[in-house]
Amino acid sequence: MKYRLLVGALMITSALSSQQLKTAQITQKVDSLLSLMTLAEKVGQTNMYNGTWEFTGPVPKDGNNQLKADNISNGYVGGMLNVLTADGTREAQKMAVENSRLGIPLIFGYDVIHGYKTMLPVPIGQSSSWDYEGVRQGAALAARETAASGVHWTFSPMIDVSHDARWGRIMEGAGEDPYLSSVMARAWIKGYQGDDLSDPTTIAACAKHFAGYAFAEAGRDYNTADVSRQTLYNVILPPFKAAVEAGAATFMNAFNDVGGVPATADSYLQRDILKGKWGFDGFMVSDWGSIGELLTHGVARDSAHAGLLAFSAGSDMDMEARIYEYYLQGLVEKGAIDEALLDDAVRRILTIKYQLGLFDDPYRYSDTSREKNEVYNDQTKAIARDVARKSMVLLKNQGDLLPLDPNVKSIAVIGQLAGSKDIPLGNWRAQAVPNSAVSLEEGIRNAVSRKTKVTFAQGYTITEGRRDFVHELKWANDTGEGFAEAIEVAKSAEVVVMAVGEDCYQTGEGRSQSDIRLVGRQLELFQEITKVNSNVVVVLMNGRPLAIPELAEQAPAILETWFAGSEAGNATADVLFGKYNPSGKLPVTFPHNVGQEPLHYDRKNTGRPVTNAFDNGLVFWSHYTDVPNEGVFPFGHGLSYASFSYSDLMLKTSRGVVEVSVNVTNTSEITGKETVQVYIRDRVASLAQPIKKLVDFKQLSLKPGESREVTFTLNGEDLGFYDNTNEFIVEDGLFDIMVGTSSESYLKQSTDLTF
Ligand code: NOJ
Repeated sequence: MKYRLLVGALMITSALSSQQLKTAQITQKVDSLLSLMTLAEKVGQTNMYNGTWEFTGPVPKDGNNQLKADNISNGYVGGMLNVLTADGTREAQKMAVENSRLGIPLIFGYDVIHGYKTMLPVPIGQSSSWDYEGVRQGAALAARETAASGVHWTFSPMIDVSHDARWGRIMEGAGEDPYLSSVMARAWIKGYQGDDLSDPTTIAACAKHFAGYAFAEAGRDYNTADVSRQTLYNVILPPFKAAVEAGAATFMNAFNDVGGVPATADSYLQRDILKGKWGFDGFMVSDWGSIGELLTHGVARDSAHAGLLAFSAGSDMDMEARIYEYYLQGLVEKGAIDEALLDDAVRRILTIKYQLGLFDDPYRYSDTSREKNEVYNDQTKAIARDVARKSMVLLKNQGDLLPLDPNVKSIAVIGQLAGSKDIPLGNWRAQAVPNSAVSLEEGIRNAVSRKTKVTFAQGYTITEGRRDFVHELKWANDTGEGFAEAIEVAKSAEVVVMAVGEDCYQTGEGRSQSDIRLVGRQLELFQEITKVNSNVVVVLMNGRPLAIPELAEQAPAILETWFAGSEAGNATADVLFGKYNPSGKLPVTFPHNVGQEPLHYDRKNTGRPVTNAFDNGLVFWSHYTDVPNEGVFPFGHGLSYASFSYSDLMLKTSRGVVEVSVNVTNTSEITGKETVQVYIRDRVASLAQPIKKLVDFKQLSLKPGESREVTFTLNGEDLGFYDNTNEFIVEDGLFDIMVGTSSESYLKQSTDLTF
């Protein structure tokens, strides 16, 4: 035993030292390269261009493109975005490597938000799986496809904790909870980066948007964020800290200001916290043009001033504002920016390029044969299907309407969304081919017996005309002409599967909404259909929590599928027909109406919580007079076809540590996966605390009748909080520990703790 331990220890030491050796070698190489660089070449590394032309063809002759091409050839460009394909990236790389004096390779970045060509569910969907390993595998798949096409770097994950369903980008993150978002941040980063950035199947990650972007006032994208220190430190920052700990190679700052300081020019966030306190040693890229936006924010007099503010604050690379390109050299020459600061930024950028192996072989990622063979094939689709079905959340299943029998005589499939091969791909879809998803209708047809009669009717229309990433959507003028057919089809079917929700372009950047109910006549048609058939299964496709109290009440079964990606229809059918037993849990609260937003389960008690007095008809409580404080479907909620019971919650407390144990039993006749969630409440603290907050969870699969003890160890890290001096503190006192199946259904015990 002793011997084995010794061998283990030696192996760890040698592994560590080889890692350290590699780091030291890179540092040395970076230093020696830096010493050869002119000021203009150093500035060049901080400059990132959008790839505005097909690199496999000639450079278009307009001045802008010619200038870009010349600058790449002269070594005045550090990175590019949106340069794609193995051939395209090879050609662009050639320009830099073969023409420039020092041959420094470019880094190519791209928004691979939920897959490159094989689409995974949108991030909020992936996060609904609460499944670290599944999410990691999905990100690893995205990385393999991206890397095979010559791209080194994704602008993902977005780990902005969001409380506001109006904000269209809530779809791109992991939801409303800082702990779950931190777990997902780690899974995404590990999936993209693997263990070694130089592995040509991995890519560099970018944690974004640092910070506060999701707290845009009134949920309106790009808007100002006014957050307290408490919210900043306890809610917004934890996933970013987790990203640094997971080794995220890069960070991206944000468009918003926090307390009047635009994030791009925020030295406190970027220099003091990120690069200082947390020791982040990767580089910070600005968001698109955000350095230029310091002028419109009204904090910079002119572009040179904007460059000075952003660079001084720690923004290392300028994404397409073209401000560092034009002004940084002058700022250094006249002494406004110390050259040592520029050296620091360049060192960070070069280090990542070395780590990616680009100096060993700048073309290592641009591999046409891998691009042909490893992208979007049966294997990649199988992974996407698995991630997708794990992402689905069974919100309601009255009378066990689900799972459906694949031998059912007849199914009516209804809705524009059910027939769409495009909407399930989601927004931010990278290189997905439009209309390439398996639609819900197709998925159902693939899943049922040959004898089952499947009839489709579109029923309603929500959007029409041009639908893409950059343009406003056009709402359809739905005259109801499809209603009669849909009702007819529903009348004669044994079961109806009706898809409702959003067009995928309703969520994403610039897609905020002040109304989060179902658009158009979807609800009206649903209600007509329930009049003729009571077996209506609602399949939701959406990128934000929706206000759907009527559906919650009137539909017997509701399955949340988000935008589930390339294999959406097959994955949904897997769940509908019981091939996969649903295991997802909501990472966001579904409200009664938009007026409740921002809404999150980890709210404070207030001085006037709703108590019995509310029932006595008095009004002086923190409540609404028309809806409850809680949502319709709570955070952490999600059903299974199995059922689970919780018992014997026990706490064993010693100094600073609580050992928690609970018994979970599968009380049904099928195997099922449960996510056991642990919430805490610090009853009396020096700062008012949330009524509950998630601190841990575990997933387990239980056979019929099986019972298992699940244990958790909580310590100061789980039980403390950041105070208003930004210190993490742990205070003695009484804690409630809640363990259960959602944020609203749990067992509770309390304990006194001394640290
Ligand atoms: C702006 C978005 O905010 C950011 O998330 C994205 O990565 C960049 N554009 C690049 O496309």
